[in-house]
Amino acid sequence: MSDHARVSAELARIDAFFPVLQGLGTRWAASRPFEGLTIGVHLHLTTITLALMREVVLGGGRWVVSAASPATTDPGVVEYMRTLGLEVHTGRGSKDGIAATVAAEPMLFADVGFALGSALLDEGQCPRGGVEITRTGVNRLRNRLPLPFPVLNISDGRLKPAVESRRGVGEGLWPAYTNLTGQHLSGRMVLVVGYGPVGAGVASFARAAGATVEVAENDPVRRLIAHYDGLATTDAVPALKRARIVVTATGRKHTLGAAELATLPDGSIILSAGHGGDEIDVAWLRNNAETVDQIGKLVVRYTLPGGRKVTVLADGHPLNIVANSGSPEPVLLHFVLLGLGLEYLAQRESPPGEMELPLGLEEEAARLALRVIERPV
Ligand SMILES: NC(=O)c1ccc[n+]([C@@H]2O[C@H](COP(=O)([O-])OP(=O)(O)OC[C@H]3O[C@@H](n4cnc5c(N)ncnc54)[C@H](O)[C@@H]3O)[C@@H](O)[C@H]2O)c1
Repeated sequence: MSDHARVSAELARIDAFFPVLQGLGTRWAASRPFEGLTIGVHLHLTTITLALMREVVLGGGRWVVSAASPATTDPGVVEYMRTLGLEVHTGRGSKDGIAATVAAEPMLFADVGFALGSALLDEGQCPRGGVEITRTGVNRLRNRLPLPFPVLNISDGRLKPAVESRRGVGEGLWPAYTNLTGQHLSGRMVLVVGYGPVGAGVASFARAAGATVEVAENDPVRRLIAHYDGLATTDAVPALKRARIVVTATGRKHTLGAAELATLPDGSIILSAGHGGDEIDVAWLRNNAETVDQIGKLVVRYTLPGGRKVTVLADGHPLNIVANSGSPEPVLLHFVLLGLGLEYLAQRESPPGEMELPLGLEEEAARLALRVIERPV
């Protein structure tokens, strides 16, 4: 099957089973909220993002898109986006794509990880506003205060943590794990590092699949909540010594750094459900391994001195995104919020700084989703 046919089939599946964005597209085609504006978009270029872009372009405007990471860029999606008239920049790395998007001087932007927002700040640009979708991005924008432009934080609303982070990631991660390794989780030991909404979902879906789950979490409140969720809690270091499957969900660089990787037992399989490609120090493994074997698609086994074997999935990038796995529903739902957020910012001047979701936006997104979910079949 060609890339175009595969991507079209995935879009058709979204259209058939969760057409939540189409209502917005129809509305935007009539109201043209983005007419006359340049909008920069820096997201993972998956079919789910394509489903969003297909609708937003109906609202007018010039859309300039850069890829959040080569690891999460689907070439078929890039090609399809270009047929929609989008300017898509992938470059050699994510930075090149951002440079092209910044050069277009966007008036609005949508961002993952506040990468585009940071680049706009570095260039002294002051767009009308942006939307940030991730926890990591919100943490990063808070390090750049005071902001000269508004950034809508959809990560801390009521919907995104509860639906996409808490349920979407875990639900998508484990089928991808089984597809790549052939392993089922039943009776296996899983260590989840980080118990925010993402880690909590990853742990809960692992337990539902029959795994024994331990949680390592630095924040005592979240660690206690994990306990009352019925999970064994622990410090990372002793747990790593007995771990078989380790998932990071922290958004923190080198959560599994040299010291942690050095303690993993033979046969460990490690993966990330968090942000970017640096929660696991894959470079350390590469530099210290005696042999590196690609043993399957997205599966690399490192044999360390002494014979210990550690397997890394998706090169340490968030597996659910790289494998584009699981139900697209939760991500589509937060893309509804992203679209509504851009529409909101397009229609008015908003004060600079981090913005909470305006009253009514999440309710509108929820109503749109419920209309699709509760429709007669
Ligand atoms: N893969 C995806 O599709 C997806 C979707 C949504 C969010 N994310 C990303 O996943 C990450 C987690 O999201 P979240 O909303 O749960 O974030 P969060 O910040 O609410 O939770 C992360 C938790 O990790 C803990 N932590 C950090 N370093 C630790 C360490 N070394 N050991 C133990 N605990 C540690 C923190 O105390 C915190 O409670 C973020 O980077 C977010 O951007 C990924």
